[in-house]
Amino acid sequence: MIVLGIETSCDECSCAVVENGNKILSNVIATQIELHRPYDGVVPEIASRLHTEWIEQVCDAAINQAGITKKDLDAIAVTNRPGLLGSLLVGVNFAKGLAYSLNIPIIGIDHIRAHLYASQIEHELEYPYLGVLLSGGHTVICKVLSYDNVEVLGTTIDDAIGEAFDKVAKHYGLGYPGGVMIDRLAQKGDSKAFLFSGPKLDPKEHKYDLSYSGLKTAVINQLDLFSTGIEATPENISASFQRVAVGMLIKKVERALKDTGLKRISAGGGVAANSLVRSSLSALRDKGYEVTFPSLKLCTDNGAMVAGLGYRYLSDGIKSDFELSATSRVSAFRKN
Ligand code: KG4
Ligand code: ZN
Repeated sequence: MIVLGIETSCDECSCAVVENGNKILSNVIATQIELHRPYDGVVPEIASRLHTEWIEQVCDAAINQAGITKKDLDAIAVTNRPGLLGSLLVGVNFAKGLAYSLNIPIIGIDHIRAHLYASQIEHELEYPYLGVLLSGGHTVICKVLSYDNVEVLGTTIDDAIGEAFDKVAKHYGLGYPGGVMIDRLAQKGDSKAFLFSGPKLDPKEHKYDLSYSGLKTAVINQLDLFSTGIEATPENISASFQRVAVGMLIKKVERALKDTGLKRISAGGGVAANSLVRSSLSALRDKGYEVTFPSLKLCTDNGAMVAGLGYRYLSDGIKSDFELSATSRVSAFRKN
């Protein structure tokens, strides 16, 4: 079964062709980074306008690179939740038009589940596993029981981890996209230069929850209070912030692993591309856990994860109808 996956939930306009859920024939990602850079963040109106201008070309490129024609498509999977509403609608409406004209089924895909599925494309992971979803809009620690069955254990109670990276970077003018710049700068910095503290969450009420807003504010406003006489270079700020941001995540992941007895972990989402996240989670292999990540291109937003997950639903006879619409928020994955 050949599935076209369409992803336009934020600022990546992506179409991919995937065969049988795991053979990526093409994965075209047209990034809008340069066009949002002057604003140090994604401007929703610009994002949706660019998706409208690009989607047809991106789809044609994906079909051509896959070496097929549109008539070879068996189905279309499209991200329809959560994300920027205007951007989601461009993908959904394009997908509906194309599916209708080709007389093939369409399936609406949850972006968070697609990130959690991304690892499955390259590694056949046995369920259940601990899913760690780290993106610009979400931070979720969950039990992944199947491609469709996710039991949320904890989420951020305020900012998402990627949002904290991006806001710290924006405040200090470290460059855009913020997460990538902090990751790069941190490699040359002293992670103990500034001893930012993590949140003090009630361990009973927020057993597996996280919080990034306090850390972000501490890094932005209180830097001088913590100054150890070490220079506040972008490298030192980045390394110190990243150490605490990732450290608190790993603590919660370890607690969830211990309590659930799960032996496998898989991360996903843009921040799963972070080098400290990858090395810290990988270190859990020494404690006997099986740890997998999607390759870097499958961590950030892409159509292949959407097509891959779409294939699973379609194989089980689950599809959407042409009433399919877009939803900006999915409450199951957030507390705030
Ligand atoms: O999953 P994603 O592409 O889009 C959303 O669903 O939000 O994640 C985007 C987030 C942004 O906050 C970006 O700064 C962050 O992922 N990101 C990183 C890295 N690469 C992307 N954060 C830290 N280190 C990275 N290497
Ligand atoms: Zn995403």
